[in-house]
Amino acid sequence: MSGSPIDPDNGKASELSALLKRRGFFFPSYEIYGGVAGFFDMGPMGSLLKDNIIKKWKDRFVIEEGFLLVDCPSIAPEVVFRHSGHLDKFSDMLTRCTDCSEPFRADHLLDDIIENADSLSEDELFTALKENDVKCPNCGGSLGPLEEFNLMFKTYIGTGSDRPAFLRPETAQSIFLDFPLLYRTNREKIPFGVAQIGKGFRNEISPRQGLLRQREFHMAEGEFFFDPEADGFPAFDTYRDLKVNLVANTDPDNSIRKELSSAVSEGMICSEVLGYFMGVTHSFAREIGIPEDRMRFREHLDTEMAHYARDCWDLEVLTSYGWIEMVGIADRSAYDLEQHTKGSGQEMTAMRRYPEPIQKEVTTISVNMKVLGPIFRGAAKEVNDAVSLLDPAAVKELLETGEPVKVVISQGEVEVPPGSLSIATEEKRVAGERFTPHVVEPSFGIDRLMVAVIEHAYFEAEKSPLREEASDGEGPYRVMRLLPSISPVKCGVFPLMNKDGLPELAIPIEKDLRKCGLITYYDHSGSIGRRYARMDEIGTPFNVTIDYESKDDGCVTIRERDTGIQKRVPISRIVNVISDLVSEKIIFDDLDQPVIS
Ligand code: GLY
Repeated sequence: MSGSPIDPDNGKASELSALLKRRGFFFPSYEIYGGVAGFFDMGPMGSLLKDNIIKKWKDRFVIEEGFLLVDCPSIAPEVVFRHSGHLDKFSDMLTRCTDCSEPFRADHLLDDIIENADSLSEDELFTALKENDVKCPNCGGSLGPLEEFNLMFKTYIGTGSDRPAFLRPETAQSIFLDFPLLYRTNREKIPFGVAQIGKGFRNEISPRQGLLRQREFHMAEGEFFFDPEADGFPAFDTYRDLKVNLVANTDPDNSIRKELSSAVSEGMICSEVLGYFMGVTHSFAREIGIPEDRMRFREHLDTEMAHYARDCWDLEVLTSYGWIEMVGIADRSAYDLEQHTKGSGQEMTAMRRYPEPIQKEVTTISVNMKVLGPIFRGAAKEVNDAVSLLDPAAVKELLETGEPVKVVISQGEVEVPPGSLSIATEEKRVAGERFTPHVVEPSFGIDRLMVAVIEHAYFEAEKSPLREEASDGEGPYRVMRLLPSISPVKCGVFPLMNKDGLPELAIPIEKDLRKCGLITYYDHSGSIGRRYARMDEIGTPFNVTIDYESKDDGCVTIRERDTGIQKRVPISRIVNVISDLVSEKIIFDDLDQPVIS
């Protein structure tokens, strides 16, 4: 069998995409009306496969890592993205053909010419397009000037146009907004993680890489809140010795293999927390079937870093489209919580407890609303809230030096009259101090992972014992070697003939398997070889065949997809055996029944 990944030039990629459409994995949306780029429907197989990857992600992050799961709306008012920075900064550079008007994402036009073209600045992009004499790929016309294009989908809440809103480009923002509540839910313990799985939306300029670049896509994001001044991160021990492939932004042309602990201690990875989540991500990717040698972590260049990130490592997987980002693991520092504190006036801090309470001089500011009220009227409370977020010691210094105290409210920056402020300093017994937590975010593109999993599970063979009977006898023999736990259908159930009492044995077996939560496929038509082949194509790991002997010995055969080996198992044990095989509690070799072919 020839292995993966698929080289786009050898025809395997198109074989695979035809198979994925034909067998109900995924296909372009709205196709009968011509389709719309960047939108895909998940068919019956794709939906199950994606759901299984999501389940695995939940097992890992929510169950094992203990992240708190939330589920928030996909639409948010403009104010959220104004303060998150997405309104100003979440954009790509666009250029249009001056002849045919076709729009292009400028850096993508340089993809075959320059590595990491998406990290170029606007000026560099402009120069590179000119120097390489890049023309419109559509009609050969000249390209127009560069413009910034915001990737968020705009909409409105309610009946008028006075409440602009956007479809979320990431699920993360609601988690930041909910931080104060979630911190309390977590009984004010830190560190802790919050997870959200759902759709993200980006109005990509000209999406062309199938499921890898969609305008609506499935994300699974974790936001891990921690104290940046805490001593070390003990959980890192789990992955300290894990060796991974790293492409650092100081040496972007070379991949080196290193233990995570060395990369952290040498300062290549900025913290143990970030290193830990790179370890979790690596282990998760292995668990869903991505081969180790097709994975690497690549650090973003400074010019390609998202506006909120201080550092970011992508887990990239080698696919038929080259190395593609599957997961971004970003150090978002205190950026988001601080931005939303400024924007909303809500305090978004946690408590750093001292080992023992201490006596401390504490400075507090109080605001005289009798002075503030008549000056600011309706906005007085907003001014008061904004003052309460200021550092009292800094305000004291401003007042002492006669400099103005300024705050930002929804109307803009305002000066707070000194006469409305009073400063008090007193000795107090305090249990700790407040700080703004930092965040490390592992953000998974679920659809992309699904593509990578499929590509690495797909094998073709020109010759196979089943070749003649399979796939209508056309093309190569195709097998999707998906791991049992993520394959969409777990077990085929086949009465050898649709008569002679065999369906009467097979139907209850299928029912029992389904009752136990296993998706099955019942098939009584065609040769048994063709039935196996249909299941191999969609990655079904096991098939149960009920034959004439079953009536006498009460046993059925289980066929393993990847070896074609069959073993006989009593009907009374079949549900437990398939269930244990699928959950990987046992492997096929553990079944000590005679091999029958
Ligand atoms: N939250 C990660 C991203 O937007 O890519």
